[in-house]
Amino acid sequence: MTSPTLQHSISTITDNIAKQGYAVIEQFLNPQEIACLATHAKFLQNAGEMHKATTGITKVENPTLRGDFIHWIDASDASEAEIDYLNLMSELQQAINQAFFLGLFEFESHFAIYPPGAGYQKHLDQFIGKSERKISSILYLNDDWKAEDGGQLRMYLDENDTTRFIDITPQAGKMVVFLSSDFLHEVLPANRERMSITGWFRARSLNS
Ligand code: OGA
Ligand code: MN
Repeated sequence: MTSPTLQHSISTITDNIAKQGYAVIEQFLNPQEIACLATHAKFLQNAGEMHKATTGITKVENPTLRGDFIHWIDASDASEAEIDYLNLMSELQQAINQAFFLGLFEFESHFAIYPPGAGYQKHLDQFIGKSERKISSILYLNDDWKAEDGGQLRMYLDENDTTRFIDITPQAGKMVVFLSSDFLHEVLPANRERMSITGWFRARSLNS
């Protein structure tokens, strides 16, 4: 059963995607739910289950491009907190499909931990020549994030004008959702460790 708060968040997301291609929800999950996910991220880190992220289809490690460590969420082997997260994202997927007929049929997601000083240079979330990733989502897990901690998500609103962007602080509970093909974005380096879950809703590939 979907709570009224979640329903409200979900309709804010679909409304804003329709209007501007992206949405920022300040409190998508409550502090308790975020704490469970953050604890799980730290558990994975301590267990050696977070691995250096790679980029592109060829999966090369490129620390100058991105400096985070990731762990892919596996539904068949998920913790309670991960299952709750996947269920929420499945509700969001249904709502987006109803609103936009995107034919989303799959969701992939990973935890990400950026050590202090690490970032992710300006990029698009689609591999060149591949368009299965339709919608990107990022949920932040960092308590008491201050502007001076850095680590903002910088989203470029116009690909031809690098001065038009918004900076989003990675505060716990905040969720950002955007059309994967439309927004160049980057992660600015932070002064402290930065944790999140990134996810992508995918459509069926034409060539697979
Ligand atoms: C990504 C990404 C942004 C963020 O993982 O592709 O752009 O704010 N993350 O963590
Ligand atoms: Mn990205």
